[in-house]
Amino acid sequence: MIPQAAPPLRIARFRGEIDASIARVLSGPSYILGEAVAAFEAAFAVTAGVKHCVGVASGTDALALALRALGVGLGDEVLLPSLTFAGTAQAILHCGAVPVFVEVDAATRCIDPVAAEQVIGPRTAALVPVHLFGHPANMHALMALADKHRLAVVEDCAQSHGGTLDGRELGSFGHAAAYSFYPTKNLGGVGDGGAVVTADSDLADRLRRLRYYGFAAGGRVSGGIGFNSRLDEIQAAILLALLPHLAEANAERRASAARYRALLAGMGIGMPPEQAGSVYHQFAVTVPDRDRLKRRLDAAGIGTAVHYAPGLHRHPAFVDGARTPLPITDALADSLLSMPIQPEVASNHEERVALAIRGLLHCAE
Ligand SMILES: Cc1ncc(COP(=O)(O)O)c(C=O)c1O
Repeated sequence: MIPQAAPPLRIARFRGEIDASIARVLSGPSYILGEAVAAFEAAFAVTAGVKHCVGVASGTDALALALRALGVGLGDEVLLPSLTFAGTAQAILHCGAVPVFVEVDAATRCIDPVAAEQVIGPRTAALVPVHLFGHPANMHALMALADKHRLAVVEDCAQSHGGTLDGRELGSFGHAAAYSFYPTKNLGGVGDGGAVVTADSDLADRLRRLRYYGFAAGGRVSGGIGFNSRLDEIQAAILLALLPHLAEANAERRASAARYRALLAGMGIGMPPEQAGSVYHQFAVTVPDRDRLKRRLDAAGIGTAVHYAPGLHRHPAFVDGARTPLPITDALADSLLSMPIQPEVASNHEERVALAIRGLLHCAE
């Protein structure tokens, strides 16, 4: 069996370094917002190419707290793609705002800046581009749009740790960027975790208060609304041990993607975009009759996954934000299938996956 993803294999690969890092936390002195969180925040800010990193409890919290810290609130509208994980839209609801869905670009599968401009209205306050599957959204056009319409921008980098666009780190374009460290992510722990990064010192201060009961630095007096949304010391210790291996793991993902691209050529399969700075959180192809192929690959011992069906504009929680038809999103939601790409799972198994697909696409049910 080749699983679609297997986080425990990554933990096993780096187990010695992880155990040593956890042992330092267990010895103390502090189990909450201690040395591991501080060290991880400092190191991850460098990876993201910005000055500040604030560790929080999850990627969803990272998005919600970043939007709130940027002033997004009741009745505001926030633009986002519909082709993303539900957490992106839930975070907008958490602020009392309305997620408004925008069509994606068929090639990058990320939010289309031209379509975004068409749904901007008087209540539009912010924009949340998602670097879906690790592929960069068009941040140059999106930041120009945000400047023109005075929108706050929070990049959803839950799938793009270490990715770049034209040599610049994803996460460094927007006013803030949100990361998830869910176990399957390019950088993932053994539980929930997240972070917001930003170049803005005042914004970072507001985020530190928001994650910790609204307390001002060093005190225990609530100056305003606050939550308990802290990155856990144990998760931070694990992430600290894995972070030095992120660039190598992303290179392995790119190599795996190149092998898939060559092996799957000429089969009438839609390929992911080819962008130099992509970190291939997923290698998602488009195939006709996707669900049938998925079932048959499962039976052949090859794990695949569907990201994401249906599009969020079809979820009952978010239908208020479905303002325009989204035919490209609907077509992708019906046809995308994610191959195994995690290095510990996929490396050197691409040929077996491609051979199975070739056989299944060319034989009748
Ligand atoms: C694009 C995207 N945004 C947001 C999230 C939410 O992150 P979390 O599960 O850490 O809350 C995820 C992943 O889970 C994601 O893939």
